[in-house]
Amino acid sequence: GIMIVNKSYSLPSTYNPGLDSTVQSKANLMFADAKTVGLNIYLSSGFRSYSTQKNIYNNYVSRDGKAKADTYSARAGTSEHQTGLATDINSVSSSFANTNSYKWLIKNSYKYGFILRYPKGKEYITGYMYEPWHYRYVGIEVAKIIYEKDITYEEYYATYILKG
Ligand code: DAL
Ligand code: ZN
Repeated sequence: GIMIVNKSYSLPSTYNPGLDSTVQSKANLMFADAKTVGLNIYLSSGFRSYSTQKNIYNNYVSRDGKAKADTYSARAGTSEHQTGLATDINSVSSSFANTNSYKWLIKNSYKYGFILRYPKGKEYITGYMYEPWHYRYVGIEVAKIIYEKDITYEEYYATYILKG
């Protein structure tokens, strides 16, 4: 099956799978291959529970207000991190986009089954600002389609899943 979690599709608070073991092993393989070309790529955030996400989101709301927080942080039950299929890689910062690690990731992550989940210029589709660090595991077949067609996961879902 294929799982999509976003501002429209949410998870119950009881959904608490931890980081998926396939995601962990594919990420480890990707990190090891990056290392052979001199890049230090590592997981900075993987699985987050409903309650962890709730705390994170509430802290951002206190700092920036709801409207702003909603552009970059998911409300509890709507974070991909709760699926166990999402990874934040290296620095959770917009400057990560300027690094060789990022350049390597956007060219190669699909080969391991990962997609850049919140691309630049697609905020109106994904609901979130550009996040160069956030990669979602979708499996190699799906990742390849998304990479080659240069579409978001929402567009993939609408075209290939909803329309069958
Ligand atoms: N930063 C992403 C959208 C999250 O909070 O899951
Ligand atoms: Zn993330």
